[in-house]
Amino acid sequence: MSLYQYFQKPGPSGFGHGSTAEDVTAGMSLAGKTYLVTGCSSGLGLETMRVLTLRGAQVLGTARTLEKARAACASVGGDAVPLACELSDPRSVRACVESVLARGERLAALIGNAGIMALPRREQAFGVELQLFTNHVGHFLLVTGLLDALADDGRVVMVSSRAHLQAPREGIRFDDLAADRNYTPWGHYGQSKLANLLFAKELARRLGGTRRTANAIHPGVIPTNLSRHLPRAAEAIFRVVRPLLLKTTAQGAATQVFVATHPSVATVTGEYFADSNLARPRADANDSALARRLWEVTEEIVEKLPR
Ligand SMILES: NC(=O)c1ccc[n+]([C@@H]2O[C@H](COP(=O)([O-])OP(=O)(O)OC[C@H]3O[C@@H](n4cnc5c(N)ncnc54)[C@H](OP(=O)(O)O)[C@@H]3O)[C@@H](O)[C@H]2O)c1
Repeated sequence: MSLYQYFQKPGPSGFGHGSTAEDVTAGMSLAGKTYLVTGCSSGLGLETMRVLTLRGAQVLGTARTLEKARAACASVGGDAVPLACELSDPRSVRACVESVLARGERLAALIGNAGIMALPRREQAFGVELQLFTNHVGHFLLVTGLLDALADDGRVVMVSSRAHLQAPREGIRFDDLAADRNYTPWGHYGQSKLANLLFAKELARRLGGTRRTANAIHPGVIPTNLSRHLPRAAEAIFRVVRPLLLKTTAQGAATQVFVATHPSVATVTGEYFADSNLARPRADANDSALARRLWEVTEEIVEKLPR
């Protein structure tokens, strides 16, 4: 138990900072349901897939390559189906969409979990800064492509981050999506995570009048492979604060699993969660005009991507 957790009480949901994905699904049977989890090969995605299959669900687990997805799916021991989905490669994402649609299952939830963080140097895919492309554009292509497969009461859960607070003051830099000016590893990670929040918000609006929901979450701070690009000094600090503040992977996967499965949030949509409870993002994450503009600009980007 971390020191922070020691002082934290569970929130109104009955869960909190210290709850694990197993805790939030205790007593739940997910038999007969199918979930899709991106980034199943590591960290929170792997734990999410493990716990969903533990509760009897089938999980379509996507990773950058089929080999990685196969290894991850084999490791959880349950009903996990490996699929390739390299989010920075539109052909791979579209092939994944086709594979899922061809299976014919209805998805109980789609968990957009995969992500990269704080790339030390500016990288791009198709003229878009790579964190924004991977974390947002790739998921946009996947999720919008799979809406026909989402169950009538299906849920979309986007794994954002509290790091969305570090996005530029103007929100999304629409005039510099390539990050040609002033690239910063954290500012652009923050922008991509704000984009995850805005995407969930606008998707929730577009799903209005149906029983389908879309929400975004912050999982907490968890030592995973996500920190691979951090300088060594930051890694060392991470190790020191770990017992004080950080969550385990089991705890880190809780919020996305809670929002994807728990009956108490079946009708909650357009919201942001942390520690398996409603949370408040920064103000412009609730700006519906900004969310709509991001959706439209992303549609334009997607339209120009190779088929
Ligand atoms: N850990 C934290 O403290 C923390 C805090 C806030 C938010 N988050 C968010 O939580 C999510 C999961 O992160 P994690 O901590 O579990 O990190 P992780 O252990 O690095 O897992 C990330 C997953 O995403 C996959 N991925 C990366 N780039 C991809 C691409 N281009 N196409 C397809 N898959 C790709 C990775 O595959 P490879 O391993 O093959 O690259 C891996 O399976 C991320 O969205 C992250 O932003 C994490």
